[in-house]
Amino acid sequence: MVTGAAGFIGGHVADALAGAGHEVLAVDAPGRSPTPEQARRAWAGVAARPGVTALERDLAVDDLDAVAAADVVVHLAGRPGVRSSWGGGRAAAERDNVLATARLLEACARRPARLRPRVVVASSSSVYGSAGNRPNREDDPLDPGSPYAASKVEVERLAGLAAENGLRTVVLRYFSVYGPRQRPDMAFHRFIEAALDGRPLPVFGDGRKSRSFTHVRDVVAATLAAAAEDLPPGVALNVGHPEPVAVRSAIELLTGVLGVRAEIRREAPVAGDAALTWADCGRAARLLGWSASTPLAEGLADQIAWHRSSRAQEVAVG
Ligand SMILES: NC(=O)c1ccc[n+]([C@@H]2O[C@H](COP(=O)([O-])OP(=O)(O)OC[C@H]3O[C@@H](n4cnc5c(N)ncnc54)[C@H](O)[C@@H]3O)[C@@H](O)[C@H]2O)c1
Repeated sequence: MVTGAAGFIGGHVADALAGAGHEVLAVDAPGRSPTPEQARRAWAGVAARPGVTALERDLAVDDLDAVAAADVVVHLAGRPGVRSSWGGGRAAAERDNVLATARLLEACARRPARLRPRVVVASSSSVYGSAGNRPNREDDPLDPGSPYAASKVEVERLAGLAAENGLRTVVLRYFSVYGPRQRPDMAFHRFIEAALDGRPLPVFGDGRKSRSFTHVRDVVAATLAAAAEDLPPGVALNVGHPEPVAVRSAIELLTGVLGVRAEIRREAPVAGDAALTWADCGRAARLLGWSASTPLAEGLADQIAWHRSSRAQEVAVG
């Protein structure tokens, strides 16, 4: 079972599971996405895939017994994003991250012990705040700097409690995921669309912030491995590329692949946005045999190709 299957990462995970021959129950409430039109289109695509059954459920309010009846639950539904979690976005982060996860975990825990699913729960590098002079390890202290990050700390606490009460939970801390179908509010999506339109690239702050940018293909591989493996209940694992790259350098790579000289439009920095995220993935390597292998230049070329082909399809249809 994959929650958030109309979304960016959930859509890729559902595809990969169905492609590997699993029977996939896809769950989403596309109306809860910040871009509901896009989520509805993606949802129709998910529902049409062979091997996938689509079940529309709002995890924060609906009955979840059917959802909990899977043997593995990959929980990717939620309200992502640091920027949008300030102000009015705080309530959505609490509802769709904390309340939704609490209800899902409770529904899974209500199953008879031998039928309880393993539950993989999405968290975020933002729980660490900014990295210091070395990559963050899972046992580093958490320092959330935004309502979004705080909601993920709470999600992790709930997953830990559920593990203490007999549910086999695993927490995956994803680091800045990119690739085909990336969310429209995310940096590379905005940069590529602007460059293809011939507009200046909208950059928050001075572009010196660095990220462990991680291709969605690597994220899917880690997620499937975590879903298949018998891991210590409640364990948290970083899922990120080991080499952080500054936003400015990523823009140089990106414009190089596009073959354009892009102008930058600086926008106000975002409160609570970490200066540096840097993943130590030693634990995922030990427990899952996983490490991120997609180089940024190759991954960006892949995402750019997707933007180009989506535009070509829109022209063909329109
Ligand atoms: N994309 C990243 O770089 C990144 C980084 C760290 C963590 N994460 C986490 O990974 C998960 C997936 O992120 P994404 O980028 O694919 O986001 P996304 O917005 O593309 O997908 C989330 C999906 O969850 C659904 N949803 C929201 N509230 C729901 C509810 N109450 N009931 C049912 N469905 C609901 C939305 O409709 C959407 O389709 C999120 O938990 C996010 O916080 C993502």
